[in-house]
Amino acid sequence: MAPVDNIRTITVVGAGTMGHGIAEVAAIAGYKVYLADIKKEFLDNALQKIEWSLKKLYEKGMLRETVETVLSRITPIVNLAEDGGYTEEFGRALGETDFMIEAIPERLDLKQKLFKYADENAPSHAILATNTSSLPITEIAAATSRPERVVGMHFFNPPVLMPLVEVIKGEKTSDATVETTVALAKRFGKQTVVVRKDVPGFIVNRVLGRFMNTACIVVEKGLASKEEVDATAKYILGLPMGVFELADYSGIDVFYLVFTAMKERGMKTTPCNLIKEKYEAGHYGVKAGKGFYDYPAPGKYQRPNIPKDLAGKLDPVKLVAPAVNEAAWLIRNEVATREDIDKAVKLGLNWPKGVLEYADEYGIDAIVEALRKLKEETGAEELEPDPLLLRMVEEGRLGRKAGKGFYEYHEVQEIEKETIIIRIEKPIAWIILNRPKKLNALSPKLLKELGEALDELEENKEVKVIILKGAGRAFSAGADVTAFAGVTPIDILRFSRRFQELTLKMQFLTKPIIVAIHGYALGGGLEIAMSGDIRIASEDAMLGQPEINLGFIPGAGGTQRLPRLVGRSRAKELIFTGDMIPAGEAYRLGLVDRVVPPERLDQEARALALKLAEKPPLALAAAKYAIEMGMETSIWTGLELEASLFSLLFSTEDVIEGVTAFLEKRKPKFKGR
Ligand code: COA
Repeated sequence: MAPVDNIRTITVVGAGTMGHGIAEVAAIAGYKVYLADIKKEFLDNALQKIEWSLKKLYEKGMLRETVETVLSRITPIVNLAEDGGYTEEFGRALGETDFMIEAIPERLDLKQKLFKYADENAPSHAILATNTSSLPITEIAAATSRPERVVGMHFFNPPVLMPLVEVIKGEKTSDATVETTVALAKRFGKQTVVVRKDVPGFIVNRVLGRFMNTACIVVEKGLASKEEVDATAKYILGLPMGVFELADYSGIDVFYLVFTAMKERGMKTTPCNLIKEKYEAGHYGVKAGKGFYDYPAPGKYQRPNIPKDLAGKLDPVKLVAPAVNEAAWLIRNEVATREDIDKAVKLGLNWPKGVLEYADEYGIDAIVEALRKLKEETGAEELEPDPLLLRMVEEGRLGRKAGKGFYEYHEVQEIEKETIIIRIEKPIAWIILNRPKKLNALSPKLLKELGEALDELEENKEVKVIILKGAGRAFSAGADVTAFAGVTPIDILRFSRRFQELTLKMQFLTKPIIVAIHGYALGGGLEIAMSGDIRIASEDAMLGQPEINLGFIPGAGGTQRLPRLVGRSRAKELIFTGDMIPAGEAYRLGLVDRVVPPERLDQEARALALKLAEKPPLALAAAKYAIEMGMETSIWTGLELEASLFSLLFSTEDVIEGVTAFLEKRKPKFKGR
């Protein structure tokens, strides 16, 4: 049993914005939760908010249990005694606690006092985590006798909805503590990044802080207007909000305080005066009714007017370069990996691409050049290009155009059809279902293009393995229901036949097909997935045959392939109820072959495809046929088929190559001849 399995009781201290959300997340995940704060009224307020939020989740079908069941797991506790110490009740709760998460105000003295008390009262195995965003974990841990079990666990607002948790290692935090904290965050349904060193701002606030502060200096120095910055951020970089729009939205006071704390703790930076002025004037943004933009009333949000035609007036490379520079600093100082930095930015800030992905796209040389110019124009010393970037330029690791930058790239060719994209990355090819706005619902056109693509790739000698996936937030939500209006049974018979032909084409293609499933794989979407050879699902996948809910049954092989994969009674249950099941359950049933975190789905599919691409293609095809056909006949016919295919392979050059390479102790190079 992993240590995380022993965690039963979680105490969240501080019932404010973050604390109540964290308590809610823990209760949803099934933990017994103590929620502590200094006053009963704070707790009442927090419980009301939790109830409201749970109801919302329930209405959206995002809660597996009732609101009451989840709420009943949370016990509120007043932790401040009249003498200024802690209550006995709080001490008893800590005595039962396996994992504490502190989310009290950002004052080191308060936190140290709490951690000391928690250390004295919690069992020795308990991990004490802090949700601080600006204080050193190491100094908080110093108040305890168990610094190896004190860790940073940084949630984003609001915790129930934001998918990211930064796990921060203090100077003395043990690897086991980090591992357990990561595992717990996963049980909370969150994705994690590990911050290996206790640097101010961790990943997200550092990258965001640098990005926003520099953009602000650019405006302060008159190099661009705030609308030009925001238009470029939104319409060219594709960020969810402009820089100043975001500052207003999340609160200029919050940004100012976090940024000042990072600076005080030694982050090299020239603070932007505009932010300070707004802060001092109380123009905090939306909540004050006034910030960089004006709002109708305090707390009343209205999207500021950011004209699209201003986009690009500021070079987008200049806008993103300071964030890249910060990311380079994090990598060079071994604070975080490139993958974690990009993941943090995508999940924590909702950026459509990772900061390093932008860098590779624009070119590292262009980033360095932009930093130099910016430094000259603004005088901000911290814009000196990081040594890592300079080294990359020197080594020719310039990004996509050079085939390598922060990441490696292969020569790719993309063919965009109306409803699918074929992406050839020799020796593999991707077929991407591309009707994202319709969750890749399978229209007749899409089925036709998919069939043609399979035919073309079957012929293409340079493609050895095919990966099938969906664009946007789903693999495919099934047959396009809109095409079913006003059709006759004979139309549907033809549709079903054509669809079945497609699934057979996949089944008998001579090349392996890997299906990478994320989001929904429903109805016809699942039927296509089941016709591939190997299915990899991301943790967020939901699979099902919901046809029954529409009054019909699966029509593209679902009633046949599903029972072959999961057994007849489970198949019946799925088809009779029309229920969707999550990836983990699909894995247990044998419907998918592995489950991976969402951000690793493509990578895993690609890695498996590349591995198969090194195998002898004729033997792969023979194995696929022997299995597919053998499964549908008696063992005697199957064995006969196997023997025939086995012996036939001995007429191929690849067998000679395989055996020779083995004898010569080298890696074989199969040619498919
Ligand atoms: N056929 C046609 N369009 C579909 C579709 C399908 N099977 N599944 C989803 N879409 C469309 C929706 O109509 C919507 O289009 P719109 O924005 O123009 O209204 C868009 O895709 C997004 O779907 P939406 O329902 O808004 O997303 P959601 O996250 O709220 O719900 C599902 C997702 C998958 C649960 C829901 O769309 C659904 O139940 N789809 C039907 C699944 C089904 O029965 N498939 C079997 C068909 S044989």
